[in-house]
Amino acid sequence: MKEQIQIFDTTLRDGEQVPGCKLNTQQKLEIAKELEELGVNVIEAGFPVSSPGDFDAVKQIAETIKGTTICGLSRAVDKDIEIAAEALKNADNPRIHTGIGTSDYHIYSKLMTTPEEVIERAKHAVKTARNLCAEVEFYAEDAGRTDNAFLAKVVEQAIASGATIINIPDTTGYCLPEQYGEKIKYLMNHVPNIDRAILSTHCHNDLGLATANSIAGVLAGAQQVECTINGIGERAGNTSLEEVVMIINQHERIQRETSINTQLLNPISKLIEFEMNMPVQRNKAIVGENAFSHSSGIHQDGVIKNRETYEIIDPKDVGADDSQIILTARSGRAALRYCAQKLNFELTREKLEVAYDRFLSIADQHNQISNQQLVSLLESI
Ligand code: KIV
Ligand code: ZN
Repeated sequence: MKEQIQIFDTTLRDGEQVPGCKLNTQQKLEIAKELEELGVNVIEAGFPVSSPGDFDAVKQIAETIKGTTICGLSRAVDKDIEIAAEALKNADNPRIHTGIGTSDYHIYSKLMTTPEEVIERAKHAVKTARNLCAEVEFYAEDAGRTDNAFLAKVVEQAIASGATIINIPDTTGYCLPEQYGEKIKYLMNHVPNIDRAILSTHCHNDLGLATANSIAGVLAGAQQVECTINGIGERAGNTSLEEVVMIINQHERIQRETSINTQLLNPISKLIEFEMNMPVQRNKAIVGENAFSHSSGIHQDGVIKNRETYEIIDPKDVGADDSQIILTARSGRAALRYCAQKLNFELTREKLEVAYDRFLSIADQHNQISNQQLVSLLESI
């Protein structure tokens, strides 16, 4: 049996922190319903202490969404934790996500304190949260740049204080996959009470490695992945949910599975793109406009003969439109004949040659040839 990886979606918290992506309560609620439908295990609904609007959004999501754990973020500060607990009080499965920075940058520059004091604050925060909420997740901010031996001490104390999920954020997207995987493995092997908690990945994409790092974490033993739809998030973004889920689905050797209904990946991607006004790059894996489009002659010929020659995912499996053959000046005769057939034009070998010559001279002037342009070309021969 494959092990289940918990999908923790933070689109509404880490994703929503992005300038220009702010959502109102109604929008958050609508997205939360779609995330529940998608099959995520945890929805991080917001950071309740940050504003009355966010408090209200977390509260309403906690009251409405019943099939998924609802999580609220807090710093290791009593007031944050109390307000998060208040926002979550009507959730069926509430979770407080609390934590503190553990790297030298955080300890000495941001918090201006000592490693010992960080451990004390971590213990206190987890105990406070645990008194107010049945489930507590602890994050060690900037764990990616934290010394592993110190991180192990913090994690041990957080677990001893009552946290059952331990988040290891690569907050600055610094780690290499190998390093991040080793960090998870180190914690699995050096934290004496690790059997009382699960480890979670939370990777940022500053070097374009968020997805690779999350998968390295899973392979090293992490059981939860924190991610966002379309990979939105601070700076270069977070791990993209659709990428992690499809990598796990595609690779038997990973020996893991998720509860995500993959056919809803493209519809929810479009919803987030629209509601957050954050365009998805055309070549984005799984959900980009070009993810299943083929425009060069060599690829088109292969796909027309057998889709799997150039596609490892069936677009239907991720709720995308069928594979597209795009006619450009790089297309070949096979693609032209295929597109003509789809428009009910049968081309003899001679006609195909004439059509192809005309097609090339038009295609050289345009990015792409539309159906309308193709019909007038075919009618003219
Ligand atoms: O990236 C990060 O460290 C975070 C934590 C607040 C969980 O988002
Ligand atoms: Zn983050």
